[in-house]
Amino acid sequence: MHIVSFVTQKGGTGKSSLAVSLAVAAAESGLKVVVLDIDPQGTTGEWYKRRTAEAPEVHSLPWTYLSTRLYTLDRQGYDLAIIDTPGADSHAASEAMRQAHFCLLPVRPSVADIEASKPTVRYLNERDKPFAFVLNQCPAGGRTSRTSNARMALQLLGSLCDPTLAHRSDHVDALASGLGVTEFSPFGKAADEVRAVLQWLTARLRRSDAIEIADEGAAIPLKAVS
Ligand SMILES: Nc1ncnc2c1ncn2[C@@H]1O[C@H](COP(=O)(O)OP(=O)(O)OP(=O)(O)O)[C@@H](O)[C@H]1O
Ligand SMILES: [Mg+2]
Repeated sequence: MHIVSFVTQKGGTGKSSLAVSLAVAAAESGLKVVVLDIDPQGTTGEWYKRRTAEAPEVHSLPWTYLSTRLYTLDRQGYDLAIIDTPGADSHAASEAMRQAHFCLLPVRPSVADIEASKPTVRYLNERDKPFAFVLNQCPAGGRTSRTSNARMALQLLGSLCDPTLAHRSDHVDALASGLGVTEFSPFGKAADEVRAVLQWLTARLRRSDAIEIADEGAAIPLKAVS
């Protein structure tokens, strides 16, 4: 089972929105997915209450239970666990980073967001934890200079998920409806962008598997994403 944590100290960057939409898109592609909500704010847990479909499951739990729950889920055959964390420097976020195989850091194209990501980046680098920034809430309508400047700044700080996400109302409406954007508006631009991020992420996770095979002769399979 792959474990991916959404982390940033800055609030409102899109951790919860992307966690649920990515989980829905991953489930649609055939993966067995679970979202673990360890944020006391409970955004993803509340989203799940508004939802009628059961998959992807959301488990709300205190961060202290995270490692035992992940162990159980792995044994139950899940392919992917996505962890949603509080937007603060907290034990919960640290534990989610420790448990993750890969971390995604949603960042808006703003100096404030980029600067606020530095302690998280330091924490991850000190532990050799692979991560990537995801540029979220970019101005819609193609690459603006604000987005290009943010891309350049983030590439200097670490790895960047190549597909970016624009500011689109589908994210707000999907969250309110207990849906992922690929369900809310399957042919919309937000849905395309989330699928592109999922494809980038699964390719990145498979590359980590290849490194693991070379290092230890063991692999964690991730089913193909169509
Ligand atoms: N790409 C986007 N386009 C438009 N709105 C977005 C986008 N991503 C997130 N939002 C909206 O921004 C707000 C904050 O998003 P979200 O709650 O996912 O952030 P968060 O990082 O989880 O915040 P917190 O740190 O408080 O947990 C929400 O209203 C959400 O619907
Ligand atoms: Mg949140």
